[in-house]
Amino acid sequence: MVRPELRQITKMSEERETTADGMQTSFGFRDVGESDKQPLVNDVFHRVAGRYDLMNDVMSAGMHRLWKEALVAWLNPPRRDGWKALDVAGGTGDIAFRIVEASGRNAHVAVLDINQSMLDVGRERAEKLGLTDNVDFVEANAEELPFADDSFDAYTIAFGIRNVPRIEAALAEAHRVLRTGGRFLCLEFSEVDVPLVDLAYEAWSFNAIPRIGQLIAGSAEPYSYLVESIRKFPNQASFAAMVKGAGFERVTWRNYSGGIAALHSGWKL
Ligand SMILES: C[S@@+](CC[C@H](N)C(=O)[O-])C[C@H]1O[C@@H](n2cnc3c(N)ncnc32)[C@H](O)[C@@H]1O
Repeated sequence: MVRPELRQITKMSEERETTADGMQTSFGFRDVGESDKQPLVNDVFHRVAGRYDLMNDVMSAGMHRLWKEALVAWLNPPRRDGWKALDVAGGTGDIAFRIVEASGRNAHVAVLDINQSMLDVGRERAEKLGLTDNVDFVEANAEELPFADDSFDAYTIAFGIRNVPRIEAALAEAHRVLRTGGRFLCLEFSEVDVPLVDLAYEAWSFNAIPRIGQLIAGSAEPYSYLVESIRKFPNQASFAAMVKGAGFERVTWRNYSGGIAALHSGWKL
């Protein structure tokens, strides 16, 4: 729930969704046709790919690194050969590289993303890090994964699910490709519930981030979308209900930085 004084202080004006229904037809705060969202999202990430990693650091003041470390710590990948993870909407490879390193370079991770520009940056980074034996890059849609049932030990998705138009389809696919006993972990921006943190966060998001985007990346628009799409995404409890609805069990979540980010966990049992 957004406090009224926040609305007056910042430019924001949208209530959070409680289901995924609106996600298919919302591009940030704009209503779009059902088939229009994905091409618009793709355009955003084609435009930002080259500056994506730098902007992530600037926009989150480096905090995205801590949240990603927390995801990998909770996943706790084993240090043995043959363990396989799928990182969906994996973009430039941040999660995959951390998983591989945490496994002592034993794990294998498929980085799947719909956007070749993001994957190209990831592949270049993997080469520089000497991780090409452990990481594959796959261009595909989270809603239709090109993998057999029961293929992976873990499925991760970081700051990706809110960009996927049909969230239920993506969650169903996550469940399908995981083996029994497999782990689902989703890191996403969520609902801040700490007074003053919410105030500062709203002002930063709606006023500073688009301006920084303009300054560093030459365009404010993609960053307005990123901020607005955060506001449209269901809050912690609503998203947990969706994860359960997809068939996952023992669904829980942890908040980071007062709920700026939340990490949802579930198991295919
Ligand atoms: C904010 S980036 C997150 C990248 C990376 N996971 C990270 O945490 O740095 C969101 C990513 O989701 C990808 N994406 C959007 N829609 C997708 C879809 N339907 N299927 C797969 N990836 C998608 C975008 O191309 C983009 O790379």
